Amino acid sequence: MKLPQADFRHRRDRLAEKMGPNSIAIIATREEMYRNRDADYKFRADSSFFYLTGFAEPEAVAVIETFEDDDYSYSLFCRERNREMEIWNGYRAGIDGAIEDYDADEAYAIDLLDEEIIEKLLNKERLYYRIGHNAAFDARVSQWIKQADGEHRHQSAPAQLVQLDRIVDEMRLVKSPQELELMQIAANISAEAHTRAMQMVRPGMMEYALEAELNYIFGQNGCVPSYNSIVGGGANACILHYVENNQPLKDGDLVLIDAACEYEFYASDITRTFPVNGKFSAEQKALYEVVLASQYAAIDAVRIGNSYREPHEAAVKILTEGLVNLGLLKGDVNELIKTEAYRQFYMHGTGHWLGMDVHDVGSYKKGEDWRQYEEGMVVTVEPGLYIAPDDETVDEKWRGIGIRIEDDVVATSKGPRVLTANVVKDIADIEHLMAQAKA
Ligand code: GLY
Ligand code: MN
Ligand code: MN
Repeated sequence: MKLPQADFRHRRDRLAEKMGPNSIAIIATREEMYRNRDADYKFRADSSFFYLTGFAEPEAVAVIETFEDDDYSYSLFCRERNREMEIWNGYRAGIDGAIEDYDADEAYAIDLLDEEIIEKLLNKERLYYRIGHNAAFDARVSQWIKQADGEHRHQSAPAQLVQLDRIVDEMRLVKSPQELELMQIAANISAEAHTRAMQMVRPGMMEYALEAELNYIFGQNGCVPSYNSIVGGGANACILHYVENNQPLKDGDLVLIDAACEYEFYASDITRTFPVNGKFSAEQKALYEVVLASQYAAIDAVRIGNSYREPHEAAVKILTEGLVNLGLLKGDVNELIKTEAYRQFYMHGTGHWLGMDVHDVGSYKKGEDWRQYEEGMVVTVEPGLYIAPDDETVDEKWRGIGIRIEDDVVATSKGPRVLTANVVKDIADIEHLMAQAKA
């Protein structure tokens, strides 16, 4: 499923309206990234550029000009068609394609950008530009402004420079029903990948081999991971950004998998933690139940009108109570929360916005205050507990256990909607699934 061009046009309509008359917005896609000699990373368009254009080729710049009369025009600067280059590197939409297939009012060869942009900048009041993403492009924009001012005695460059991210990030933060459909597909594929991992894991398997099982499902669905996969057995789960994934998975250990895919530019983000041998030990079970209860409570707090921080507060309360009940923390729960004593075992936030970027755009606060959930915002809910292997303040039996459970949740008028519900997380369900896979 792909979004129709009309959806991208609708986004440009909204942006043009927010820009007001006599303005210009310039937005470039990201640069191609070289991995090493003659080998580059697979290109992935800049999220905000793609959000407004639906155009996935490298070397492209979109320009939106608004006029006095509420009208606006959309120009796309892109690579020209070139038979030889296309034989080597693949299809290009070219100038005609930009107009016919991507709905541009005007299209130009990207090589003409420096020349054509000056005329477009003249006599506009405001320039909307995403400052600070690409130093080389920032320098070009400065140069254009200087040139527009210098060469034209009776006309001038825009007097105001406005951070375009402020507008586009807010647009991206609230997802349309169509975007949520894409996110649901991404979530379903990722849930299937986690299910497969639970079914395929065996003691002695390497972490990267288990990662390959997830990649198999992503690849079968034409997807790529939306971030570097974490597959951490035993104490490796206590390293929050563990991505080496090069150790054997041991009988009796848990394995934490934080991995998910991107579908049509929309990310999912799932973590599951389960026993390598299919059965939780008593200590693993005790800690897991605490994390799971905190996650259910946090998900329940993703409600329209609640502050962004409520899920975190709900999770911290249950985690701290659980740590006290199990004897890992000592003292009064409220005091331990106030002094953030729980951070010894829970040192990260409970989630982040999710969308085209895995850590999606959009502010978390409005002024001094946490903002409130609105219909269509998507957030991850990912509490965890991490007992460092060398933590001598706790009984030895707890050390080296790391657990996180992460789901993707939409705030809706009917309450929280979990996109990633297709992969089990209750202990009985995990053990049942894993036992069935071995039978
Ligand atoms: N997988 C990235 C995160 O959970 O934040
Ligand atoms: Mn996350
Ligand atoms: Mn994650």
